[in-house]
Amino acid sequence: MTDFAPQTATGKVLWHFAMSLDGFVAGPDHSMDWMTGFTVRPGLHQEYISTTGAVLGGRDGWDVIDDARPYGGAWQGPIFVLTHHPEDAEPAPGVTFLNCDVAEAVRIGLEAAGGKNLEVFSPTIGRQLLARNLIDEIDLHIVPVLLGDGIRLYDNPGGVPIRLEPAAAVNVRYRPATP
Ligand SMILES: NC(=O)c1ccc[n+]([C@@H]2O[C@H](COP(=O)([O-])OP(=O)(O)OC[C@H]3O[C@@H](n4cnc5c(N)ncnc54)[C@H](OP(=O)(O)O)[C@@H]3O)[C@@H](O)[C@H]2O)c1
Repeated sequence: MTDFAPQTATGKVLWHFAMSLDGFVAGPDHSMDWMTGFTVRPGLHQEYISTTGAVLGGRDGWDVIDDARPYGGAWQGPIFVLTHHPEDAEPAPGVTFLNCDVAEAVRIGLEAAGGKNLEVFSPTIGRQLLARNLIDEIDLHIVPVLLGDGIRLYDNPGGVPIRLEPAAAVNVRYRPATP
């Protein structure tokens, strides 16, 4: 297992997800019921809760989660939701609906984060930011499950490979769980 130094709050733009082993961050129809039955290392959630200053997401994710808050409500802070039609969004405390360029959304989010990190909770926005060199870090927690269908972390048919650092491959070993 590869482990990294604890996350730090230095005004980074993080693309942060729990992801299935086969690369999905949500199941079909945005289902998230696969995110159960596993543990993360002690302190991991608290690490992200304390280093996150603001969150940027997309309208689809926001609409399906029905005002569920990041980290089960344990994190408090400004949330920004990108949409081309903010006028029909249901107002929610602490949530700002933005219709602007993704770079401007990042600028607004980082300013609101006040020196802490901006977490991007959207595959589609993350892809746009990657193309603009606006992602500082991709943080993934691989969940031991194969989904086979759903919303991929990075869906870009016909695109070119995006090279990432560190250059070393991460090796993982799993066994099918006993039914
Ligand atoms: N596994 C995890 O840890 C985790 C964490 C967070 C979220 N999720 C899941 O990730 C999924 C996100 O779904 P998704 O990526 O398909 O959708 P999404 O990014 O949440 O939403 C896509 C929508 O965002 C708006 N948008 C995106 N880019 C825009 C831009 N440049 N300008 C204006 N609006 C823009 C558009 O909304 P309009 O149509 O309104 O214009 C677009 O249709 C959800 O199922 C969520 O539950 C998983």
